[in-house]
Amino acid sequence: MSSLTIEIRPVTPPDVPAIALLAREIWQASYPGIITQEQIDFMLEQRYGHERLYDDLEDLHKWLDQAFHEGRRVGFAFSEIYKGEFKLDKLYIHPDVQRRGVGGQLIAHVAERARKQGYPCVILQVNKRNEKAINSYMKYGFSIRASTVDDIGQGYVMDDFVMEKKL
Ligand SMILES: CC(C)(COP(=O)(O)OP(=O)(O)OC[C@H]1O[C@@H](n2cnc3c(N)ncnc32)[C@H](O)[C@@H]1OP(=O)(O)O)[C@@H](O)C(=O)NCCC(=O)NCCS
Repeated sequence: MSSLTIEIRPVTPPDVPAIALLAREIWQASYPGIITQEQIDFMLEQRYGHERLYDDLEDLHKWLDQAFHEGRRVGFAFSEIYKGEFKLDKLYIHPDVQRRGVGGQLIAHVAERARKQGYPCVILQVNKRNEKAINSYMKYGFSIRASTVDDIGQGYVMDDFVMEKKL
């Protein structure tokens, strides 16, 4: 299928409830089978609670981008400076429009921001069992740098690869 034309806009405070809902919809479609329902609920609350998103919007080291196709919000990409590196922290595309180039366009947008700021690479973390996402990241020039297990509280861990894309 052909690539979709998207418009990328910064997330603003009035967008927060819609971003939280979109995140839940995409996570419910993507993560069963990779992590438990309890961990999905815990991580959604931890990362997409409204107060958390309002705080992210005020953080000068974070950028929240959202993608629209014909007026419909179809995905988002959050990036940040993390331990001195430029990190793509979240990339989520609605299942209806996956595999139509939206993720690739958001990666290009974020990579351009990192390049302009003088960073040598963009990094990200992805669950080791999330093969679809790992394939997409490989396609867009990321390779695996390391393997990590992070304790995220309440007995949950993130069993991830760290990937990097040289700029
Ligand atoms: C992973 C994700 C961000 C990729 O975005 P996207 O817009 O679907 O990706 P693009 O269309 O730009 O790139 C597609 C490439 O990704 C890979 N890919 C995407 N969906 C795939 C699938 N179902 N099976 C295998 N590979 C897949 C392929 O390499 C594909 O290239 P191809 O279509 O030429 O074979 C998106 O699918 C998504 O949001 N997935 C669910 C949530 C998630 O896992 N997010 C990442 C968390 S770290």
